[in-house]
Amino acid sequence: MAAIQQSLSTSISSSASTFLGQNKLRFRNQNVSMPGKTSGIVRCVATPSTEKTSYKTQVSRNENLAKLQAGYLFPEIARRRSAHMLKHPDAQIISLGIGDTTEPIPEVITSAMAKRAHELSTLNGYSGYGAEQGEKQLRASIASTYYANVGLEENEIFVSDGAKSDISRLQVLFGSNVSMAVQDPSYPAYVDSSVIMGQTGQFQKDVEKYGNIAYMRCTPENGFFPDLSSVPRTDIIFFCSPNNPTGSAASREQLTKLVQFAKDNGSILVYDSAYAMYICDDSPKSIFEIPGAKEVAIEVSSFSKYAGFTGVRLGWTAIPKALLYSDGFPVAKDFNRIVCTSFNGASNIAQAGGLACLSPDGFKAMMDVVGYYKENTQIIMDTFNSLGYKVYGGKNAPYVWVHFPGRSSWEVFSEILEKTHVVTTPGSGFGPGGEGFVRVSAFGHRENVIEACRRFKELYK
Ligand SMILES: Cc1ncc(COP(=O)(O)O)c(C=O)c1O
Repeated sequence: MAAIQQSLSTSISSSASTFLGQNKLRFRNQNVSMPGKTSGIVRCVATPSTEKTSYKTQVSRNENLAKLQAGYLFPEIARRRSAHMLKHPDAQIISLGIGDTTEPIPEVITSAMAKRAHELSTLNGYSGYGAEQGEKQLRASIASTYYANVGLEENEIFVSDGAKSDISRLQVLFGSNVSMAVQDPSYPAYVDSSVIMGQTGQFQKDVEKYGNIAYMRCTPENGFFPDLSSVPRTDIIFFCSPNNPTGSAASREQLTKLVQFAKDNGSILVYDSAYAMYICDDSPKSIFEIPGAKEVAIEVSSFSKYAGFTGVRLGWTAIPKALLYSDGFPVAKDFNRIVCTSFNGASNIAQAGGLACLSPDGFKAMMDVVGYYKENTQIIMDTFNSLGYKVYGGKNAPYVWVHFPGRSSWEVFSEILEKTHVVTTPGSGFGPGGEGFVRVSAFGHRENVIEACRRFKELYK
C-alpha cells in the first residue's frame, strides 16, 4: 500500500523547450507533485469476513440496471489504473484519462466560497434550504452572462449540482416511454441513464448497441456531424457540442439543420454545452443562438470544466418557457416539479462560488484556466501530428481524438498505459463509433502533459 501511495505522489519536472517552439505557453507550476487520492478500504466489522451469508431479500433486481454493460467507463479506467499501479509500484503514472480538472480554482472564486462558509457561522449569515431552482442572483447572473443575446430569462435557468445529475433528472422528466437518439461516440451518461430509465432494449453484443436507441454516427468522414437523413425520428435527441470525446464543435449551419430536424420531427433536443467556453471560432456557444431553438431545446451546462468545479459541483439547465409538450404543457413546469421533489438545491457555498465565477474578475480568471488547458491541448495535438497520426478535436475543446486505424481502442489504451504509464481513454468506451480512437485529455499540469508527450514520442517514434 505504501508503495502505491508513493507512486501516486510523484514529482515530475522536465524541460518544456522542445514543445514550446515559438509559442508563448504559460507555466503555472514548475515542479508538480501529484498527490494520490487514497481510497480507504472499508471492512464490515459486524460480519467476520470468513462467514458466508446466504440470506437474500425478496426484492428483485431492477431489470434495467441488469441491462447495463460492465461498469461505467471512468470507474473501469480507474480500476485498470489501480491494477497497473500494483504491477508497477514505482511507475510515475500520468492521468490524461477521465477528464478531471487539475488546476487550482482561482482565488477570487474560492475566497467568495470561504466568505459564504464563514457567514454560515453567524446568526445573520446563516441560511438553510434555499430555493430548489437556485439562488435568484445566480440564476440572473447565468442568464445575463450566457443568454443575454438570446433573450433567456432568469426563471428559465435551473441551478444544479452539475450537468451529470441534470442529465439523469431530465431522464426522470421524460420517463421510460420515450425513444432517444445520441451521437456515437458520446459522453456515456446519456446512454446509461436512458438504459436505467428503461427507455432501451437489451444490449446487442454483435453491434455493441442497446436496442431502441438511435446511434448517430460521428466520424472524420462526416465532419463529426451526423447524417440526419439516416437518423430515425426519436422523441429525445442528446447532442453535445463541443463534443466529448471527439472534441469537435458543430458549426452554426450544422446546428441550424439539427434544430430544423428536431422541429420537423417534433423532438426535444437536449444540448450539452459543458465545454462551450473552450470555443474559439464562430461555432455557437449555446443552442439558443439558433433561431427557433427555444421551441425545441433544453441546454445543460456546468462550471466543472471552466472553474475547476468538478469537486465543488455546480451547473445549470436552461429550459425556455416556449418549450411545450404535445398537449401544450410547458416542459419547464414539469422540470420544476422534478427538481422540487428530488433535489433541494445546490450547495449555498458552491452557489457563492458560481456567482464569483461570473463577476468580471472571476470570469477573467475562468478564461485564464480555460486558456491554460487549451495550451495543453495544442501540445498534445502537436505531438501526435508530429508522429504522423490523424488528430481531431482540440481546437474548441480540451480533448484530442487520436486515430489508430485498424486497432482496437482498448488495445491501444493498454499499450500506452503499459509502455508509457500514461492513462488515456479508449474511444470505444464512448460507443461503437469510437472504436479505433483514443481520447487524450488536456486536463493536467503542464509538466505532466509535456512529460506524457515525451513518452508518446518515445513509444511511437
Ligand atoms: C459532455 C459532458 N457533460 C457533462 C459532464 C458532467 O459535468 P458535471 O461535472 O457538471 O456533472 C461532463 C463531464 O465530464 C461532460 O464531459
